Amino acid sequence: MEAVTPAKRRLFLFGTLAAVAAPAVFTRRAFAEEKGIGEKLKEAVTGKTGKEVTPPEDLMREHGVLDRVLLVYEAGVRKYASNEDFDPALITRSAEIIRDFINNYHEKTEEKHLFPRFRTAGKMVELVDTLERQHEAGRKLTETIIRLAPTSRSSGADRTRLVDTIQSFITMYRPHAAREDTDLFPKLKDLVSAHEYDAMAEDFEKTEHDLFGEDGFEKMAARVAQLEQQMGIHELNQYTPQGR
Ligand SMILES: [Fe+2]
Ligand SMILES: [Fe+2]
Repeated sequence: MEAVTPAKRRLFLFGTLAAVAAPAVFTRRAFAEEKGIGEKLKEAVTGKTGKEVTPPEDLMREHGVLDRVLLVYEAGVRKYASNEDFDPALITRSAEIIRDFINNYHEKTEEKHLFPRFRTAGKMVELVDTLERQHEAGRKLTETIIRLAPTSRSSGADRTRLVDTIQSFITMYRPHAAREDTDLFPKLKDLVSAHEYDAMAEDFEKTEHDLFGEDGFEKMAARVAQLEQQMGIHELNQYTPQGR
């Protein structure tokens, strides 16, 4: 009879373990493949990739919309300064995007979901207090812009005050959004669990859909693009230095 050496025993044990583990590996792979097919099917039906944007990514792309409205505002200020006639409704519609999408949605999200977490953790409280005061100031500036824009076609006190208000708005929001992007948002991950982080992303998404519809962000970006067109600043290549 052949002697069972330690090496043969190890070989036998390995073979047995492999036989037991193989169906598990196969099952897991089969499940993954099945899940992949399911997701592809869902993507084909809904047109969505199923990949959530993270809370900072969501907030930063909203800052992108804000920044594009600031470009429209700047173009308006240039036209007022050079007495170039344009429809002041473009300023009103810009301010309405700020009111609805930035002041009443994006900033409410920051005030509800981000600022309290930083305050509770005792992190960057001074910055958060300043940011919240600026939100309040921003809402007042937006109200003033909406009130004064309709009478701004001809020069006068209203137009002067409107231009001052728009300038104040731009001056405050450039550093405001930049600080949030670079100082505040990147720290959020340290304050919440992975589960909470994911839940926040879903919550942001749901509120956005409830308020602005399924493609709320895309529609808002399209509205700003249209204002850029009407203001003559949409063609991106106009900003590229020529012949240098
Ligand atoms: Fe903010
Ligand atoms: Fe913000």
